Amino acid sequence: MPLTPNSSLELLFPPSLIPSSIQAKLGSDLHIRPLASTDYKRGHLEVLRVLTQAPDVSADSYTSTFKHLASINAPPSSSSSPSSPTSSRSSTPPFHPATYYTIVILTLSDEIIAVGSLFIERKFLRSLGLVGHIEDIAVSEKVQGRKLGLRIIEALTGISESVGCYKTILNCSDKNIPFYEKCGYEKKENEMAKYA
Ligand code: ACO
Repeated sequence: MPLTPNSSLELLFPPSLIPSSIQAKLGSDLHIRPLASTDYKRGHLEVLRVLTQAPDVSADSYTSTFKHLASINAPPSSSSSPSSPTSSRSSTPPFHPATYYTIVILTLSDEIIAVGSLFIERKFLRSLGLVGHIEDIAVSEKVQGRKLGLRIIEALTGISESVGCYKTILNCSDKNIPFYEKCGYEKKENEMAKYA
């Protein structure tokens, strides 16, 4: 199956938000774009299985979840568009970027080989500040070590900073700390968890 052009896909957010420098670094045999409603069939869940349990779901359930996230991303009619952050918060209404940014890297045969997500938290502190949370980074085992994880983090961090987040954070295992340090992150504080 050849690569499907972005224009034929229903995407989670505008592809222009992904820094163009990332596609340039990937070269012509790989493609980076926002998640599409039909990425179930391109192996999204298979790639996530290198990270944790990602049992199969039906294609309909997958699409339904995608549409739910896309509907949350749709800006309220009275606010600015997700692709046009305001530079001055003091004299204009608060900027409301989209909330969910999942990106994928594909081969020319339309197979997903790397994924990652960013979601935006809106705060009341720090003058209605925004925080970017990076989640669910996974690179197919067969292509690990080829800088695709780094490109995913660069892209998500670029989106986070371009929509105005004052920081971008993530949780990881001790084993992955050196990887995130290579991506420009530093260890801060501790994670607490309570599983249901
Ligand atoms: N320990 C030390 N260095 C590492 C490690 C590691 N575990 N992983 C990568 N690096 C280094 C690489 O050597 C490279 O260094 P270099 O620039 O000096 O050559 C640099 O980090 C970039 O590495 P990439 O090639 O981009 O790494 P890769 O594409 O394999 O992606 C990832 C790394 C995402 C951890 C991948 O191995 C993976 O999918 N692992 C399984 C799932 C996982 O653990 N995901 C992260 C969960 S945390 C979260 O989601 C927030």
